[in-house]
Amino acid sequence: MKIPLTLNGEPRTIEALADTKLMEALRKEACVDVKCGCCRGLCGACAVLLNDAPVPSCIVPAAAARNCSVVTLSHFKTLPVYDDIDQAFRQAGVELCGYCDAGKIFAVYSLVTRQELPKREEILPALASLECRCVDENLLANAVIYARALRTRREKKDKNVR
Ligand code: FES
Ligand code: FES
Repeated sequence: MKIPLTLNGEPRTIEALADTKLMEALRKEACVDVKCGCCRGLCGACAVLLNDAPVPSCIVPAAAARNCSVVTLSHFKTLPVYDDIDQAFRQAGVELCGYCDAGKIFAVYSLVTRQELPKREEILPALASLECRCVDENLLANAVIYARALRTRREKKDKNVR
């Protein structure tokens, strides 16, 4: 079947069978930054933004992306909002090994986007569902708080420039 969508900001129509997962369909479109890890929806290696919300593309059917926006990590990294997160990770001492970067980065993005003043008690449960061998959840929670502050500062600066 044909699935029209917006992929990394560009209109596109992808081909997939009814049982094709989004990860497989995206990798066929040369989005090799969408990685396969556990293939069970647990690790975040395959995470993408589907209509601005993180999803594990290894378990989401490709058909769910019909008429939606899909953003993969390599494109996300070109956006100013990623610079806030990258700086926050450095500030918090979060070091990603490369395996589940997409899951971690999009989870932080989602928290930062949903809440203006994210609280540690809300952040920790939201991050707990991601399996990860490397990153301490407390450091990651700090990164969410720093990223939100950096984003607020950047948005204020952008407004004053206009
Ligand atoms: S590969 Fe999809 S969540 Fe692990
Ligand atoms: S950063 Fe998650 S496994 Fe390494």
